[in-house]
Amino acid sequence: MADSKTATLTFDDKSIELPVRSPSAGPEVIDIGKLYAQGGVFTHDPGFTSTSSCESEITFIDGDKGELLHRGYPIDQLAAKSHYLEVCYLLLYGELPTAAQLEDFEARVTNHTMVHEQMHNFFRGFRRDAHPMATMVGVVGAMSAFYHDSTDISDPWQREVASIRLIAKLPTIAAMAYKYSIGQPFVYPRNDLDYASNFLRMCFAVPAEEYIPDPILSRAMDRIFTLHADHEQNASTSTVRLAGSSGANPFACIAAGIACLWGPAHGGANQACLEMLREIGTPDQIPEYIARAKDKDDPFRLMGFGHRVYKNFDPRAKVMKESADEVLDLLGVENNPTLQVAKELERVALEDSYFVDKKLYPNVDFYSGIILDAMGFPTAMFTPIFALSRTVGWISQWKEMIADPKNKIGRPRQLYTGATYRDYVDIENR
Ligand code: CMC
Repeated sequence: MADSKTATLTFDDKSIELPVRSPSAGPEVIDIGKLYAQGGVFTHDPGFTSTSSCESEITFIDGDKGELLHRGYPIDQLAAKSHYLEVCYLLLYGELPTAAQLEDFEARVTNHTMVHEQMHNFFRGFRRDAHPMATMVGVVGAMSAFYHDSTDISDPWQREVASIRLIAKLPTIAAMAYKYSIGQPFVYPRNDLDYASNFLRMCFAVPAEEYIPDPILSRAMDRIFTLHADHEQNASTSTVRLAGSSGANPFACIAAGIACLWGPAHGGANQACLEMLREIGTPDQIPEYIARAKDKDDPFRLMGFGHRVYKNFDPRAKVMKESADEVLDLLGVENNPTLQVAKELERVALEDSYFVDKKLYPNVDFYSGIILDAMGFPTAMFTPIFALSRTVGWISQWKEMIADPKNKIGRPRQLYTGATYRDYVDIENR
């Protein structure tokens, strides 16, 4: 049904009628696509705080309620009842798979877990002490140099193959980046293992010993993947869409997404959060850090707190907190000092008027680092794990965009505040 509502924008002596679009959920959207053509003006919204950049059917967030839905299914149900590859299928194809569809999908992903052997040499060009995210940006970008047969974005079959390759190979690449950084040999994937167990094995096995993944740790790993799988139009996803809008190949687009994710305001927050919790050290230090977070003259922020969209609990943080308790119990890590600091910091912040008034709640990154640390991952691997989990979200959003006949190159405008026209001045006259 066509939307019939309009909004009227009045300025100077002009009055412009703008169509209002009704989403299936969330606030109504004023479509300003023709505003410049009709009124000769732009809108200005740095950080896109009030601007929708695309139409999407994949993920919905109600930030006030603290609700996250993938294709309509709430994240807590998916985290409890589903598993990562099933959620990947849901994000990519729109529906939960039947048993036969899931079996076929898992077989297709599993078939692609190895990387081109020559990529091993590519890794060896990096310094050993490179951050694994730096290595991943480079190696994932380089996939377009290794998999030419899936870079023609006008061919739906090639788009499909590229998607499966990315979902299948990102754990292998992340694990290789880790192994390279600690000077251990790369561990080839094992296709008889599930996705999470295979990743744990590629990270923690060594050729000299048998490695048997613990099913409870595999389940916790899988849940971390699931909780990070997609998050609608966040900075890295928007980066992937913008890169892809020019027709760039999917490997290059995902490399752009990884680069964007790395920042501490986004995916890099999980590393920054654990480092902050360790720096706080003991609960008695918390008031000092809370005071710093509130001080406008101090750039310090509570990492793992706050979100552009959630003005309530991040539903992923709730599941992550339960998972942290489970994993630490399993590993027999009683009285983990970092977990104690995290729980007390959360309690203090949620009672503090600064955080209450600004609606700053723990986000997904607040507890994930504690689990990953307990599993044996160094902090530098936290963001690569976020990146491999988010790959399915990026690729689903990219596929949706490419298949949309209304897709056009992303090209924002600007509010120019620089010098106006002036003539060139010869160097001797300056
Ligand atoms: N600690 C202290 N104050 C904060 C924090 C924080 N973590 N987050 C926001 N604020 C304050 C901020 O100073 C501002 O105050 P004022 O209105 O007085 O100027 C107000 O709250 C609004 O903040 P904002 O920066 O305008 O909000 P934003 O939507 O642009 O930023 C954010 C969202 C996630 C970047 C920010 O909350 C932040 O930097 N958090 C810490 C980093 C973090 O945990 N990031 C992970 C986000 S979830 C995973 C992901 O998406 O990757």
